[in-house]
Amino acid sequence: MINDLLEKTRESIRYHAYRYYVLDDPEVSDAEYDALFDQLLALERERPELVTPDSPSQRVGGTPLDAFESIVHRSPMLSLDKCNSLEEFTAWVRRCETDLDRPIGSFVCEPKFDGVAVNLLYENGSLTQATTRGDGVQGELITANVRTIKEIPLRLNTPNPPEWIEIRGEVYITKKDFEDYNKKALENDEKLFVSPRNSAAGSLRQKDPKETDKRPLSIFCYSIGGYSEDYQPTSHYDVIDDLRTWRLPVNEFPHVCPDIAACDGYIQEMQARRDMLPYEIDGIVIKVNDLATQRDLGFLIRQPRWALAYKYPPVDASTTLEGVDYQVGRTGALTPVARLSPVKVGGVTVSNATLHNQDEIERLGLRIGSKVILHRAGDVIPKIVKVVEAGDGSVINAPTQCPSCGSLLTRRQDEVILRCDNVLTCPAQRMHSIIYFCSRECMDIKGLGPQRVKQLLDSGLVNRNSDLFQLSVESLVELERMAEKGAESLVNAIEAGKTTTYARFINSLGIRNVGEDTSSILAFRFPNIEDLMSASVELLTGIENIAETIAEGIVDFFATEANRNEVRRLIELGVHWEEAAAIEDDVLEGQVWVLTGAASRSRTELTAFLTSKGAKVSSSVSKNTTVVFAGENAGSKLSKALNLGIEVIDEDEFNARFNLDTEEDATDAPAVTSDESELTTRQTPQK
Ligand code: IVH
Repeated sequence: MINDLLEKTRESIRYHAYRYYVLDDPEVSDAEYDALFDQLLALERERPELVTPDSPSQRVGGTPLDAFESIVHRSPMLSLDKCNSLEEFTAWVRRCETDLDRPIGSFVCEPKFDGVAVNLLYENGSLTQATTRGDGVQGELITANVRTIKEIPLRLNTPNPPEWIEIRGEVYITKKDFEDYNKKALENDEKLFVSPRNSAAGSLRQKDPKETDKRPLSIFCYSIGGYSEDYQPTSHYDVIDDLRTWRLPVNEFPHVCPDIAACDGYIQEMQARRDMLPYEIDGIVIKVNDLATQRDLGFLIRQPRWALAYKYPPVDASTTLEGVDYQVGRTGALTPVARLSPVKVGGVTVSNATLHNQDEIERLGLRIGSKVILHRAGDVIPKIVKVVEAGDGSVINAPTQCPSCGSLLTRRQDEVILRCDNVLTCPAQRMHSIIYFCSRECMDIKGLGPQRVKQLLDSGLVNRNSDLFQLSVESLVELERMAEKGAESLVNAIEAGKTTTYARFINSLGIRNVGEDTSSILAFRFPNIEDLMSASVELLTGIENIAETIAEGIVDFFATEANRNEVRRLIELGVHWEEAAAIEDDVLEGQVWVLTGAASRSRTELTAFLTSKGAKVSSSVSKNTTVVFAGENAGSKLSKALNLGIEVIDEDEFNARFNLDTEEDATDAPAVTSDESELTTRQTPQK
C-alpha cells in the first residue's frame, strides 16, 4: 500500500520536475510541487527501508571526496574532426561516399555546445555512474556531482530500459547564470570564472557534491556510447527521439538534413541565431543519420568518420574605450587593462580587456573614447583587435609611478614592460605574490582570495608568505567579516598546505621565469635545497632546458639574504615534502625523446625526469628522434615514429626501464583536454 503511494508520488515528482527543469513549462505551482516533495520525504521517513537510490529525494548526498576515482568508459569518448567551410564539409562528404561506394544518406545537424562532456551510465533504467571524458578512454567518476543536476533523471522514463546504456552529453552553464554567478563571486571575494565552459568544468570537479548543487548546471544529451544488445536503434535521429521519450534533456534543434545544401542552410541559420541562444555554441555537429552507415564508415584513431564539427568563427563586438587602468602583478610588471562600455560578446557581457603592454596601446592607436572591435575566441579572455574610430579623446600615456606604491617605474633594456622594482614593500606585488604562493600549482591553500589577502596585509598579520603559517584562529577572528568557523577552516587549509612536493615548493618561491616545468627540473637536479640556493649560473646553464636568463634569475633570487631566510623559515614552520630519489646520472646524454599520448605522469614530470638524465625532449618526431614515449591513444606522432622505424616505448616499458614505481596516485591531474597531439595526463585520482 505505502509502496504504491511512494512510487506514485515519485512518478508524479519526476514528471513535474521534467516539465519544470527540462521543458521549462510547469503544470503545477511551486507550492504544489513542494507539497508533493514533502509528502515523499514524510513517506520515506516513515519507511526508510523503502528509499531507493533513484528516488528524487536522493539527489544531493554522499560525503566530500579526497579524490576522484578513475573509470574506463565502456565505449571510448571520441573527439570530432573539424572543418571551417562548406568546401571542406563537401570534400568530407565526397571522401566518405567514395569509401562507402554508395550515397551517404541523410545527416542530422545539431548545435555544438560549448561545455564539458560527460558520460552517464544507466543500468536497468537507473543512473549508476557519471564520468568526465578524461582522456577519452577513462575519465573521473563524478556521479555524486552529476546527480545534483536536476534535469538529469535518476530513472529513465520507460518500462523497458536497455540493460545498460551510456548516454553522452554536454554539461553547460547558461550565459545568464554565468554572469549572475560571477557577480555574486565578486561580491563575496571568490574566484571568478573565465567563461561559461570554464565554470561548468570547475563545478563538476568539486570535491563536495553540496558545492556542485549550488552551481547552476544544465545539460544537453546528444548521443549514446556503448549499449546492451537489447537496444537496437537504426538512426541517430531515432536515438535522439528515444532520449527525449526517456525524459533526458535533449536540445530543441537537432534536425534531419537530406543533403549538403540543407546542412548549409542549417549552418547559416544557427549562426544567425547564435547570439540569441541562452547558451554558448561554437559550431554545428553534422552526423550521418543511418547507424548502419555509421558502422560502415567506422573510426579513425580518436574520431568517428561519420561525424564532423563545423566550427563557427570567433565572435566580435564593437564598444568604446572609457579608460585604461594599470595593474601591478606579482613580479612588478605593469599591465594596462582597458575599461570598456559594457558590451555583449558571444552572449557574455565584457567590460574590460587586457592590453598586454604600452606598445600594444600605441600599435592600436588607442585614445580615451576610441571605438574599438573586441574579439572573443572560445574560452579566451577578450582582446581589442582594432580601433575603428580613434576619436579626439586624450592620448594614453604610460604612468611614471607605480599606481600601488608610488615608486618610479623602470623599463629594462630590450623589454617593453614597465616595472615597479619595489619588490619588498609594494602592496600590489605582495598581494599577488601571496595569492600565487597559495595557488593550486604552488602550496595549494584554499580560501585566500584577493580581498582576504589584502585584509591580512593591511592588518599587519601577514607581511611575507611564511607569516601565513603563524596565523591562529584567535588572531584571525579579530578581522572584519571573519567568523570563528571561517577562521578555523582557513587555519586548517594553511596547515594542509604545509604538506607539499619539492617541485611545488620551488615554484611557490616566485623566482622570475621559473614556473612549474623548471621547478620540476630543479627538484630533480638539486635534491637538497641548500645546493640549489648556492648553485652558480654555470652549473645551472649546464642543465638541459635551463637558459641563461632563467639561471640568472635563480642566482639573483638566492643572492638576496631575505629570500634564503624565507626559504629556511618556511621549512622551520613545517613546510615539508617527500624526499625524491636523487637521479644525477647522464645515461640519456645525446638522446632526443618525444612524448605523445596519455600517461599517468604529467608531461612536466616526464620532461623533468628525462632531462635530468641528460636527454632532450622535443615536440616533433624526426629522423633525429631517439625514442618516442607513446601513452594511451597516441596518434600521428606514433604513426610517424613507426614509419621512420624509431624506437617506441609505452608507459609500462618506461617504468620498467627506469625502475620507476607505477603511479597509482598521480597528483594534480590537469583539466580535461582534447588536444590530441600532445601528451595528456590520464585522469587518475587526485591526491
Ligand atoms: S557528438 C563521436 N554532438 O564536442 C563524437 N559532440 O569535439 C561524439 N559536443 O567532446 C560527439 N556538442 O563534448 C557531439 N551535439 C554534439 C556536441 C558534441 C558538443 C562536444 C563533445 C565532444 C566534443 C568533440
